Amino acid sequence: MSNRVDRGVSTSSTEGLQAFGEKHVTKGLGRITEGIMMRGKGSYVEYDNGRRMLDFTCGIGVTNLGHCHPKVSQAAADQCMNIVHAQCSIAFHEPYLRLIEKLLPMMPHPSLDSFFFWNSGTEVVEAAIKMARTVTGRQNVICMQGGYHGRTYGAMGVTRSKTVYSEGFFPVMGGVFVIPFPFWHQFGLPPSTPTSTLVTQSLYQLELLLAQQTSPRDTAAIIIEPVLGEGGYVPAPPEFLRGLREVCDKHGIMLIVDEVQSGFARTGKNFFIEYSGVKPDILLMAKGLANGFPLSGVVSRKEITDKLAPGSMGGTYAGNAVACAAAVAVADAMKEENILANVNTRSTELFDALHALQKDPALAQHILDVRGQGLMVCVEFASPAGPGAQHDPARGLQTPKGLASRVAKRCIEKGMLILTTSAYEVVRFIPPLNISAEDMRKGTEIFAMAVIEVVNEG
Ligand SMILES: Cc1ncc(COP(=O)(O)O)c(C=O)c1O
Repeated sequence: MSNRVDRGVSTSSTEGLQAFGEKHVTKGLGRITEGIMMRGKGSYVEYDNGRRMLDFTCGIGVTNLGHCHPKVSQAAADQCMNIVHAQCSIAFHEPYLRLIEKLLPMMPHPSLDSFFFWNSGTEVVEAAIKMARTVTGRQNVICMQGGYHGRTYGAMGVTRSKTVYSEGFFPVMGGVFVIPFPFWHQFGLPPSTPTSTLVTQSLYQLELLLAQQTSPRDTAAIIIEPVLGEGGYVPAPPEFLRGLREVCDKHGIMLIVDEVQSGFARTGKNFFIEYSGVKPDILLMAKGLANGFPLSGVVSRKEITDKLAPGSMGGTYAGNAVACAAAVAVADAMKEENILANVNTRSTELFDALHALQKDPALAQHILDVRGQGLMVCVEFASPAGPGAQHDPARGLQTPKGLASRVAKRCIEKGMLILTTSAYEVVRFIPPLNISAEDMRKGTEIFAMAVIEVVNEG
């Protein structure tokens, strides 16, 4: 490594570089590991001290085809030698259009035929809100308790997963109303509550909201993550999504489906919304779209996007040519490598391993729930304090505190990167979608050992 100088402090070693980072990188970013990530290949990453880690985070659901997928990296490298920045308001570029060709047949409904690419998830949330407001001529947006949509002001305004995303930053975007997602926590009910009860309650709250708080005449859109991500890895029941569609159709409200995390085969279908057969008015994607290159997309019907004024959408780097070329290769690789089949096989193995843990008499009382879809899966631990506690106080009281973060930390010590999520005690599994059976077994074994050790420590 070349010698670097920080105002006279040599940082020729990566150890020095770590200290340099701690001094000069904002505290506003959190980090779950020490050290410098140097390389990634397939399901593994390597740190500066040579430590190799199994990656069950995929960089928060991004590197779905594993790190540095050869076909994707090659496509990006080739594009780098061709043109890097062909600005979207100056001209079309070929990878942009080739990407749309690849995506059209993957769309959950043929009506979704008009695309715009941006860089990040939060930006396409902003675009969707702007589109819904201008096209309907209405202002208000309904979002879900537990939903996460990003850190910019509009997206933050419709985020309700944790206060850390908005604490100290108010006022956020106005005109936002909230209904409970059909998740037992949101009603203070136990995990065994029938899905139909949760769906009925949530749709009833929507009805009340439209009668008491925001008139349909003022309501532009309902925005939903069809699988709550930062809210606790909760798939929406298909009947709830169909209920939302009906309400939207009745009142001319737009349904914005945010599949930034759940899209691109993550849940065993190209998009989770396919499980319900519901047609989104606006569908959002990012993360797995380009396997690590910054790219996001918003797709809607041409009849809707034709109402937008030219120039009202855009961005200097929007739909970068290198990122689009990588995304074209992602779409090809997903097909050629039959990724959907692998997701469904590995998902069964993952659920089997987690259900076995849940049935273990020594652990059963500490595991409240195992849920998810495809390879977007989580374990929720019981909690003696905090929002999870009330559902089973008898069990909760005997459960150690902070199980999720302690288990995640122990997994990291044992060589596997894994993340927690939500305001509850949840550890989430987001492994690569092309993970081997062997690495899935390894990951679930590390997790099981970590849970046993932490529970025994009390
Ligand atoms: C569902 C969902 N929407 C939006 C975002 C924001 O995406 P980004 O972090 O790329 O801005 C995320 C990020 O985790 C997400 O999971």
